Amino acid sequence: MLHRRFTILSMILTASLAVSAQTPTTLKDAYRGAFHIGVAINSDQITGKDARGTAIVAEQFDSISPENAMKWENIHPKAGKYDFTLADQYVDFGEKHHMFIVGHNLVWHSQVPAWVFQDDSGKPVNRIELLRRMHDHIFTVVGRYKGRIQSWDVVNEALNEDGTLRDSKWKQIIGPEYLIWAYRWAHEADPMMELNYNDYNLENPAKRKGAIDLIKILQQNGIKIAVVGVQGHDHMNWPSADLEEQTILDLANLGVKVAITELDLDVLPTVPQATTADVSYHVESDPKLNPYSKGLPDSVQKALATRYADLFKVYLKHREVMSRVTLWGVTDADSWLNDWPVKGRSSYPLLWDRNFKPKPAFDAVIQAANQGK
Ligand code: XIL
Repeated sequence: MLHRRFTILSMILTASLAVSAQTPTTLKDAYRGAFHIGVAINSDQITGKDARGTAIVAEQFDSISPENAMKWENIHPKAGKYDFTLADQYVDFGEKHHMFIVGHNLVWHSQVPAWVFQDDSGKPVNRIELLRRMHDHIFTVVGRYKGRIQSWDVVNEALNEDGTLRDSKWKQIIGPEYLIWAYRWAHEADPMMELNYNDYNLENPAKRKGAIDLIKILQQNGIKIAVVGVQGHDHMNWPSADLEEQTILDLANLGVKVAITELDLDVLPTVPQATTADVSYHVESDPKLNPYSKGLPDSVQKALATRYADLFKVYLKHREVMSRVTLWGVTDADSWLNDWPVKGRSSYPLLWDRNFKPKPAFDAVIQAANQGK
């Protein structure tokens, strides 16, 4: 009798253990072994001021990106003056939680202070001096976190939509080879970390072709790009799952890994340049562009969940070449899409709502992992 009771008890225990082993409830557990699950964190999450947001990050994710803390204007605001306060805390946070830590970013056309491109009289700085400034920036920032940041977005958004090189100040003053110097120096500053190229709209065939040509040129120059980052500022109907799949395959063909680096899914009405992610793009406010200021209708909530699941199924199918999927924020309240490209909208692009509650999209992403493994 006693023996039978034990058998039943152990059967119940085994069954419940099996269930919990099969159905992970955190993103990082659900996708463990497939790819890292990351999130961009803001200053309140880095410092812990947003205690609830920080708790979600620690519990759910195994990789972090700094939403703004490491951008040039914050980390190197004046000539010869670096401010590492927040960036140091960001890296400490990642180490404390044993996370895969991403650096974002070194060379970009946005969020760079004007002084970088000017001489003392306010005229465009000469080529040699700009190369010197870039060298100093890369060695100082990458060098400081050598061995602690595993992966750096070295150059961000170097391409136009037609695949040509963006006419940034970097290109105007240094020439297209600014990219080669940036990657060479980043590698010298920390030879062990992964070099990333990061951009948006790589699903657009013309831009993707430009990215492929660019990576090939870098490779021919001896630069080992480890990861191409597809930002993933996506919409409900673009890019399609098929287009996403083709993009991943085309990029992986270069012998690199692919990461989705800034995933969010915009459910709001689209604006003229619907698929740009250029942070300088702005559109006038208009109530018609902000239809869900009082909450998200159930039907849209469900459609968002399905769309998230469809994309994660594609990522999972290609896990062999995927290194990471990173969401661009924790809750909907954190999202940059509340103020870009239209100020003051209520946006719903992420997996947690404004009350820190996981949305149906969160469950759908977990379910996609459990079904796809
Ligand atoms: C955004 C941040 O989320 C905002 O807080 C900031 O005001 C502007 O930049 N592509 C990128 C990111 O590579 O760095 C941008 O982040 C979004 C587009």
